Amino acid sequence: MSARFVTVLCCALTLGARYVPRAAPTLDNGLARTPPMGWNSWNHFHCDVSAQLIKETADAVVASGMRDAGYRYVVIDDCWQVARDRTGRLVADSARFPGGIKPLADYVHAKGLRFGIYTDAGRRTCQGRPGTYGSEEIDARTFAEWGVDYVKEDWCNAEGLDPPTQYATFRDALAKAGRPIVFSICEWGSNHPWEWGPRTGNLWRTTGDISDRWASMIAILDLSSQYALAARPGAWNDPDMLEVGNGGMTDDEYRAHFSLWAVMSAPLMAGNDVRAMPPATREILGNKDVIAVDQDSLGVQGMLVQEPGIDLQVWSKPLARVANGDRDVVEGDRTHRPCSRARPVGPQRPRGVHGAVLRHRPGARRCDGADHSRHGRLKLGREDSNLQLPG
Ligand code: GLA
Repeated sequence: MSARFVTVLCCALTLGARYVPRAAPTLDNGLARTPPMGWNSWNHFHCDVSAQLIKETADAVVASGMRDAGYRYVVIDDCWQVARDRTGRLVADSARFPGGIKPLADYVHAKGLRFGIYTDAGRRTCQGRPGTYGSEEIDARTFAEWGVDYVKEDWCNAEGLDPPTQYATFRDALAKAGRPIVFSICEWGSNHPWEWGPRTGNLWRTTGDISDRWASMIAILDLSSQYALAARPGAWNDPDMLEVGNGGMTDDEYRAHFSLWAVMSAPLMAGNDVRAMPPATREILGNKDVIAVDQDSLGVQGMLVQEPGIDLQVWSKPLARVANGDRDVVEGDRTHRPCSRARPVGPQRPRGVHGAVLRHRPGARRCDGADHSRHGRLKLGREDSNLQLPG
């Protein structure tokens, strides 16, 4: 029995995880042996993408030290494409991408980075641009010719289509195109992608879109962590791109977001404007200890393991790099429920709040004027370490 299998089995038995995978085969394309790291345009820029933005971002990923910290893929999300030409090839917006996509990929590669792009398995993308349905082979070939290293395929405008079938069609087209390309499935967890995703792609979204708010981040944590046992090297649950640095959470909350994504072995795709990062954002995204937890070679997704007291949660992730089978743990305070839903919290988990653990400091009030200054603080440490929140 392999050490990894024993570890996963122990986790499953100990934690009573909701999802226990059958021995599903994985896509064997040799890629994403650790969760992919990089940057994606969507969370901050939405449709406001251009060759200039991508070049400046690639420059900043290098200059900020992010590339050397492990961020590799620079991915343009939706809105780069406007039409198909007479031969059926996708055409980039010529005003925003004057030279087309190939020179941009070359630029990114010359920086020691990899280049990613977005399409949609349906007839049109979520922003109404041409989708890949019916053009899988030509799109895969085009992307390979352009030097694409990572494709995210979305699921808008795909009514009546079967996700496992459509994503497998594009997987096969990518394989036929002959270039190693990380395949990122984005169907929002609607059709149990943790069951067929491992044999189809390198990562699959488990939920709808994240937004730049604590409640959204925590809701996604609770959902995505249910499928921990599906994750393994080459095949990862994707709880969506990071919001770190986008302004809707405090720096402590962003630290929590980043640490929790690392414990979940999530892809770490920065989603901020890396050209203009305040020092705190740079420090969070560049935290080598947290990144090492995410990128650990054992590839076991961490899980919630203890609720040792009212308001406290402990998540644990087995690590290959830690001797004696110890785990790194992350613990923290999740207090940030809207006042309208606030109520006294006893030793029982509050009904309707899955996995919620709230920690109140003596004297802190929870509604108007509540002391939320400490919420989101996490501590990353060894399993045997003192689990007190930082003072
Ligand atoms: C969907 C995806 C997002 C993003 C947008 C682009 O909402 O889930 O991540 O790609 O489409 O339109």
